[in-house]
Amino acid sequence: MSELLVAEGISARYRVDADEPPVRAVDDVSIVLHEGESLGIAGESGCGKSTLASVLSLNVHPPLTVTSGRLELAGHRLSLTEPGWRRQAEAMRGKVVALLPQGAMNVLNPTRRVSDFVYDVLQSHMPRISRKEAVERAAERFEQLALPRRALDAYPHQLSGGMRQRVVAVVSTLLDPAVLIADEPTSALDVSSQRALLKLMAGLLERRIIRGIVFITHELALLRAVTHRVAIMYAGQVVEVGPTEDVLFRSAHPYTKALMDATIVLETGTRRQRIETIGGAPPSLMAPPPGCRFHPRCPVAMPVCSRETPPVVTVGAGRTAACWWVAERMQQAAAPAGAGAAGGAGPGAGAGEAEAVGEGHDTRAASQ
Ligand SMILES: Nc1ncnc2c1ncn2[C@@H]1O[C@H](COP(=O)(O)OP(=O)(O)OP(=O)(O)O)[C@@H](O)[C@H]1O
Ligand code: SF4
Ligand SMILES: [Mg+2]
Repeated sequence: MSELLVAEGISARYRVDADEPPVRAVDDVSIVLHEGESLGIAGESGCGKSTLASVLSLNVHPPLTVTSGRLELAGHRLSLTEPGWRRQAEAMRGKVVALLPQGAMNVLNPTRRVSDFVYDVLQSHMPRISRKEAVERAAERFEQLALPRRALDAYPHQLSGGMRQRVVAVVSTLLDPAVLIADEPTSALDVSSQRALLKLMAGLLERRIIRGIVFITHELALLRAVTHRVAIMYAGQVVEVGPTEDVLFRSAHPYTKALMDATIVLETGTRRQRIETIGGAPPSLMAPPPGCRFHPRCPVAMPVCSRETPPVVTVGAGRTAACWWVAERMQQAAAPAGAGAAGGAGPGAGAGEAEAVGEGHDTRAASQ
């Protein structure tokens, strides 16, 4: 499968107060989105998902700055620290990559009709387009995606929250960007509006209006319904990536496993409490712990974990995890029989398959 978006070594930080260290919201993140794919990004609140979305969609504004990294978007290469990248980004925003931001439905101006919004968006990239042409173009797209044409004449307050969100999603893709970055697009929507938005997104991909989606969500059920692969973030870094079912139900990384265990509690209790069931709290991103950032909370941490950055280990086809413990288990599994597979610190250690850190641990029922 060919690569549509390649992000390499992206680091981005917020500097709010000159007397305080910057918030290292995204630190050395590398991810790939393939043609026709939907890639999920998940992790606790504050782990850097929206910041990564801002960088990937080229919406980097103070106090956010990118300190390192390279991006390739539909064949366009950008080195995010070289002079001139912002000008390049300006030309690509909306056309090559579009962002559906967290709370997107609120970007509509309450005093202006949807058609005015459409005209503004199109005119900013196509200065010569007439208002009539802009509205016609949007109307065709609305029809194609089963949205009522009359929504174009409405003021935002005349539309439901779900319809507003779908309208913004469609308008953000009017310039046919290759990649859509959708940041928690369904949060604050009721179940039927969620379903309608997901259908719309599937339609955007099926009709090749867009060629790939990065889909950020807290919802396990949505990750399963919408994404082919998922990247799990912790404290500004990606800790595990792979096919969605493998990552969620046969988690390799101790953090992903903890997140999934917490999700089971969630499904029987209240949605908001799920993450709090992992012992401890995420670190401050102004002064993240050395070594593995998860080590103060990790049930299988080893001495090396607090000293050295964990290696990124391949744990299966298209699957990686950044973890010392997983690395050790992979080594044990690869070693000849009898060559010391008895060690290991954690639950199920020595079983030989790093992929099966969550062996026998099936959270599928929890998300149905
Ligand atoms: N404008 C800002 N100024 C300073 N710090 C910020 C700003 N926006 C975000 N941060 C910090 O950057 C870190 C990452 O935040 P981000 O919003 O990217 O997380 P998130 O994973 O999207 O969280 P959520 O799930 O709550 O949306 C957090 O520590 C957050 O407090
Ligand atoms: S590197 Fe160490 S602390 Fe981090 S998740 Fe793996 S075992 Fe736990
Ligand atoms: Mg966010």
